[in-house]
Amino acid sequence: MLVDTHQPTADALVLFGSTGDLAKRKLFPALYHLERTDQLNVPVIGVARSDWSDEAFCQHAHDAIIAADPHADAAVLEPLMKRLDLIQGDYADQSTWETLRDTLDRHSSSNAVFYMAIPPSMFPEVARRLASVGLNERGRIVVEKPFGRDYESAVQLNTTLHTVFPEERIFRIDHYLGKESVEDLLVFRFSNTMLEPIWNRRYVRSVQVTMSESIGVEGRGSFYDGVGAIRDVLQNHLLQVVALLAMEPPAGPEPQFLSDEKAKVMTAMSAIDPSRLVRGQYVGYRDEPGVAADSQVETYVAAQVTIESWRWAGVPWFVRVGKGLTTAATEAVIEFHSPPRMLFDEAGGPPPGRNLVRLRLGKRDGVTFTLQAKTPGPHLDSQDVDVSVDFAAALGERSEAYERLLSDALRGSPRRFARQDVVEQTWRVVQPALDTPGPVHPYFRGTWGPAEAERLLGNGDHWLAPSI
Ligand code: BG6
Repeated sequence: MLVDTHQPTADALVLFGSTGDLAKRKLFPALYHLERTDQLNVPVIGVARSDWSDEAFCQHAHDAIIAADPHADAAVLEPLMKRLDLIQGDYADQSTWETLRDTLDRHSSSNAVFYMAIPPSMFPEVARRLASVGLNERGRIVVEKPFGRDYESAVQLNTTLHTVFPEERIFRIDHYLGKESVEDLLVFRFSNTMLEPIWNRRYVRSVQVTMSESIGVEGRGSFYDGVGAIRDVLQNHLLQVVALLAMEPPAGPEPQFLSDEKAKVMTAMSAIDPSRLVRGQYVGYRDEPGVAADSQVETYVAAQVTIESWRWAGVPWFVRVGKGLTTAATEAVIEFHSPPRMLFDEAGGPPPGRNLVRLRLGKRDGVTFTLQAKTPGPHLDSQDVDVSVDFAAALGERSEAYERLLSDALRGSPRRFARQDVVEQTWRVVQPALDTPGPVHPYFRGTWGPAEAERLLGNGDHWLAPSI
């Protein structure tokens, strides 16, 4: 049955956490782009502690935009600044919520977006307070990850939020779903008919997904040390990418069908076996501000995941994420089986490589097909050749994830947001890794992580370095 999950267009944007780090780095620059492209036609109401003045708030927003784009256009900044309104007050003080309601009344708002750029521990309280002044009937909430700390707390959080907002008015952000490169996985798989017949266990030998960052925790030590790589990115960004790579075609273009297929494939994914998991921590992490001197928190994790579906049974999926690694890249590599007979190795060299499809999802996104071609010379030998497309060069620049997600939230489109059942399934999959994490292996920055991660692969296989 088709359920219309599309929501009415918003008439106001309320930013909780408007003086925080996320608003500074991502939300204000995104609002600037929306203003520039005429997609922002609503008041933007920040809620902040009482010691912030209107001027300080506008200056903060202005500085954040200039930091992201030093050439920001004054003709865009000016109307944007005029949209900003600040409510000063404590979240614990009921009069703050009454002022918010009155402010929305003054703007004749009946359909606001309440964006929670605040620590997740505050989501239930803010949702309840919104309800206490009737604002849960007048809009939708946008919540940032991490959505829960484990399976149980995610279910609990959903239950709590559902007492105040129905599922279709809860927009859960995973900014990877806002990346055009990640969304392209859908188009790539389901618009190219040559791929679908081979996208299964019969032809695919293994899949590797790497999300590597060269930076460390960069001043976020106190947040990160309570989270670690499994909760920070594996449970959400990485498993969402795996779902898009592994799922069946959706029954139609409506957002609900996409979430249905993700939920199905996540249900078929086995919970991670702790013996098929390696955690690492970069040397120097414990010296970062805010990190415990004896921290056992992982900045790297590699794991095997298995999908017991008709399409993928028996195919190993290897995933790894880490900070302080050699390069910044996100890449999925689909490795195909070797031909049944090796006919072309007259020179007796090393056996030819296998076909690969490398899907680059990071900054320079694109796709590379690694194929075999005849080596020049008298022998009948084959060697690797890459056929590669850089999407920005071929198609033009992509927009920023947060710009697209904010625009979607304002337009009421749930397509790029995560549904409850999918999020709960991802927590189920990582739960054993949280319960029985095993040791954390040190690794040096600028490497590919702890050597122990190699043993996950077996069969003489190796992690494939991203192609950038
Ligand atoms: C965030 C994590 O969700 O994603 C960060 O909290 C990580 O630790 C970031 O650095 C990576 O995002 P991107 O878009 O830079 O790949």
